[in-house]
Amino acid sequence: MSYLSDQRPFRLGDFARMKQAGDKITSLTAYDSSFASLLDRCGVEILLVGDSLGNVVQGHSSTLPVRMEDMIYHTQCVAAGTKRAFIMSDMPFGSYQTNHDDAMRNAARLMAAGAQAVKVEGGAYIADTVRFLVERGVPVCAHIGLTPQSVHQLGGYKVQGATVDSAQKLIDDAVSLEHAGASFMVLEMVPSDLAARITQRLTHCATIGIGAGPSCAGQVLVMHDMLGIFDRKRPRFVKDFMTGAGSIEAAIKAYVADVKSGAFPAPEHCYPSQ
Ligand code: KIV
Repeated sequence: MSYLSDQRPFRLGDFARMKQAGDKITSLTAYDSSFASLLDRCGVEILLVGDSLGNVVQGHSSTLPVRMEDMIYHTQCVAAGTKRAFIMSDMPFGSYQTNHDDAMRNAARLMAAGAQAVKVEGGAYIADTVRFLVERGVPVCAHIGLTPQSVHQLGGYKVQGATVDSAQKLIDDAVSLEHAGASFMVLEMVPSDLAARITQRLTHCATIGIGAGPSCAGQVLVMHDMLGIFDRKRPRFVKDFMTGAGSIEAAIKAYVADVKSGAFPAPEHCYPSQ
């Protein structure tokens, strides 16, 4: 059963309560008004205007070329189609790493475009930026594990936290980011048992997993991936909900139902510890 019985729009505080209640949070990426409206009507609770639009909308091989103007435009499109879901927008590469003033100015542009929270990639080193934004009224989602904006530094799209040392570093990063005020934390491509430890360790911050196992407070996927629209090898953590669904609406409803029931992610979508 869903945490919210009425149809009012989601607010930030709902998600910490959902985490406490064990009501799994559902999230998918959205980039335009028509899909935002459909996802909203299908009960997706968080719409992530991801910089993955660099891949699936713009056709780049990474998220690095995405500009602030692109994120603002797509956030406005998503906001125009959304009635109830909570909207979170990615801060693109280079828009928050240089200094706090730039980070705040760019976050404010996304909030003015319709975002209710912004997402930033990085570990403990970004905690001061998170604190700066939160203290000025900007809800923040942190993103650790595989952070696509650092793909060249990481040497590819690989599982993170698989060694004892790197797992401990991710736990330390997560704790610092929660202390800095992050309300959400995307955990991408980390072993399931590590994601479970991080989820348990955080008190109010809700973990949203993508390739991080079933214990996270919620799950997110790139919408094109879960609809089976690929031009590349499908990552292990993606399930194609379109196959056999009959319609896009049915596929999205199946995703929501499977996240809520815990059926997704199944063991075949998860990374075991090594
Ligand atoms: O940009 C994006 O879509 C994301 C998700 C993969 C979490 O950051």
